[in-house]
Parts: sequence; C-alpha cells; structure tokens
Amino acid sequence: MTTVAIAYHSGYGHTEVLAQKVAEGVRDAGQTPVLLKIESAAQDFAPFIEAITAADAVVFGAPTYMGDVSGVFKVFADATASVFFTSAWKDKLAAGFTNSHSFAGDKLHALNSLAILAAQHGMNWVNLGVAPPSVTAAERGPDTINRVGSFIGVAAQSDNASPEITPPAGDRETARLLGERIAKAAVRWAAGAEAVEALAKAA
Ligand SMILES: Cc1cc2nc3c(=O)[nH]c(=O)nc-3n(C[C@H](O)[C@H](O)[C@H](O)COP(=O)(O)O)c2cc1C
Repeated sequence: MTTVAIAYHSGYGHTEVLAQKVAEGVRDAGQTPVLLKIESAAQDFAPFIEAITAADAVVFGAPTYMGDVSGVFKVFADATASVFFTSAWKDKLAAGFTNSHSFAGDKLHALNSLAILAAQHGMNWVNLGVAPPSVTAAERGPDTINRVGSFIGVAAQSDNASPEITPPAGDRETARLLGERIAKAAVRWAAGAEAVEALAKAA
C-alpha cells in the first residue's frame, strides 16, 4: 500500500479543509493518507518527521500569511533540517497547497516555499496538473476547479467566514484532485523503481 503523508498547518481551519480533501483524493486513488496536523511551533516534530520518512510521498500545506507560508509551518520546515543531513527524503514525491483571503494574495510565494523545501530534500515535485479554467471572469464561480489558475500546486481562496462554507466547492475539489494525482504518481514511481531493479538483476 502506498502512503501519502499530508503535513500541514492551519491557524483558523480553512487550510485544514484542503488537507482533508487531499486525503480524500489519496483514498479515492486506493491509497493511504497520513494526516499530520502541525498544531504549534512548540511541538515535538520528531514523530511527524518519522511519519514522512516512512511515507512514499508527502503533501505540504500551509496558509499564506504575510505573503509566505505561516510562521508555524516555517518552524516545522526548519525542524526538517535534521533529515536534510541524512538525505532520508531524497527521491520521494512531494506536492503542496496553500490558501489565503485574496485571490492572488502572494499565494505563489508560499507555494514556491513549499516546492523549495521539497527541493532542498532532493524530493521530486508533483505539480497540480489541472488546467486553469477556460471560462470568462463572469462565468468563474465557487464551483470552478482551479479557480485562481495555479500550476505549481493548489491555491485556494477563503473568505472571512466559517471553514464550513469557505473555501468553496471548486477549491475543495481541486485539492481532492491533487491528492489523487500524487497518490497515482507515487504508485507509478514505486513500480518504476521495482522495474529498474528487476532489469538491473537480469542484466
Ligand atoms: C497573520 C496573517 C497574515 C495573512 N496574510 C495574508 C496574505 O499575505 N495574503 C492573503 O491573501 N491573506 C492573508 N491572510 C489571510 C489568510 O490567508 C486567510 O484568512 C486564510 O483563510 C487563513 O487560513 P487558515 O484558516 O488555514 O489559517 C493572513 C492572515 C493572517 C492571520
């Protein structure tokens, strides 16, 4: 069974909605999600780091605060420096999601931070793979998939309202699609590694 760790922070619950949808997508692909909710900068991250080390792939998620990942997520990211020195995450697959209030809101900067975190660990980044919506601005609505037109990862937008109603359905579905995509990619990646090993043995 392929496992996908989902390591995320959410100060007020909106980014958490996306984490749950990524997990749903992993399950829809027939694989196992492992949800790792970062609660505070003061927590012991060792169990999360172990869980990611044991997983086949990881999806990083953080709200965009002041144009970058939240400070709490950044503390977690810095704690993964312990793994950096062992290369234990090298060649895993990684992907990311963020959420913020504005349509742009500098979300791309936060997604870039997640991709750079993965790159520093030698991981392979899986992008969103969902075309931006081919609709007019007037047609674009809460059910539109990849509403803000992001390529590198999920960029969701939440209003100042309860996470029960925002981010809207289209953003939630976009997160589910990312979960499905990385789980399928992780299965292919593992099968490819096995095939290469078999070829090497046969040679
Ligand atoms: C400290 C702080 C900084 C924020 N900075 C931004 C920002 O740079 N861009 C933006 O669009 N929204 C910004 N917001 C709004 C949040 O991204 C938005 O409320 C988001 O839904 C919060 O996600 P969460 O509920 O998972 O914490 C900020 C909110 C806070 C609390």
